[in-house]
Amino acid sequence: MTRPSKRLRKAVLPAAGLGTRFLPATKAQPKEMLPVVDKPLIQYAVEECLASGLENIIIVTGRGKNAIEDHFDAAPELERFLEEKGKRELAEQVRQLSNMIQFSYTRQKEPLGLGHAVLCARELVGDEPFAVLLGDVIIDGTPPATRQLIEAFEATGTGVIAVQEVAREQTRMYGIVDAQPTAGTHWGERLLRIRTLVEKPSPEQAPSTLGVTGRYVLPPEIFDCIERTRQGALGEIQLTDALVLLAQQHGLHALVVDGTTYDAGDKLGFLKATVEFGLKNPELGAAFREYLRSLKL
Ligand code: G1P
Repeated sequence: MTRPSKRLRKAVLPAAGLGTRFLPATKAQPKEMLPVVDKPLIQYAVEECLASGLENIIIVTGRGKNAIEDHFDAAPELERFLEEKGKRELAEQVRQLSNMIQFSYTRQKEPLGLGHAVLCARELVGDEPFAVLLGDVIIDGTPPATRQLIEAFEATGTGVIAVQEVAREQTRMYGIVDAQPTAGTHWGERLLRIRTLVEKPSPEQAPSTLGVTGRYVLPPEIFDCIERTRQGALGEIQLTDALVLLAQQHGLHALVVDGTTYDAGDKLGFLKATVEFGLKNPELGAAFREYLRSLKL
């Protein structure tokens, strides 16, 4: 297997979607800014990048998404206000957010699909491998999911995407892989070589029940693959279809990542993430657990 020479530095976070599943909450604010406990959804993905060693984040935005840029920008008045009120720790948290990472923004002018959103970042990514994180999925893993993918990418020399078992009735919500376990690595059966993928197949047509969970580490060749991809499911340019070409031409692996995945792009998944992160919160956890117990469901 060949080893890629370049260290991974960059991540692309597509955030141009219209958030229709959360209307009316997302009519005037981006879906990515909906808070799970005390952080907006997109901040979980940004923190995962930081914990995975990626320092350069490219956010693909669209119309009505200015709140995302403001969120990661410096906020000197707010910091000063918090310091004057003696809330130094909170002021430090606000400061760290804009200092910890280099952010760049690019726009997807029309909602033409996830593949097209990633293609919009081509100039900013350049000719190097990069990660893609879908902000509406939170993966709670140690090491972080993206770090796990980077290790598999370095070992295999091919792109690697995160997958997990999904219920057969739910294959229509995911990209589904047709893959074969590899042998001889410490990942065991969790690392698979992808033969092909299908975007949102019906349960009857799904080649397996391994669903793509919104974390990808890809070589720059993916951009040519996206350019050659025609409109697919829902009339959009799908990243999954471009990955089929990448798998055929350059090889591609799937990793069943170690961690818990919350699909917070879906209302029920969002509620589950809120409850579980609420329970884990050091300040609120104990009181929240007591409250949930008192509900006598
Ligand atoms: C996207 C991808 C799909 C993937 C899913 C994970 O779909 O197209 O392959 O399984 O994210 O959440 P979306 O949920 O944006 O419709």
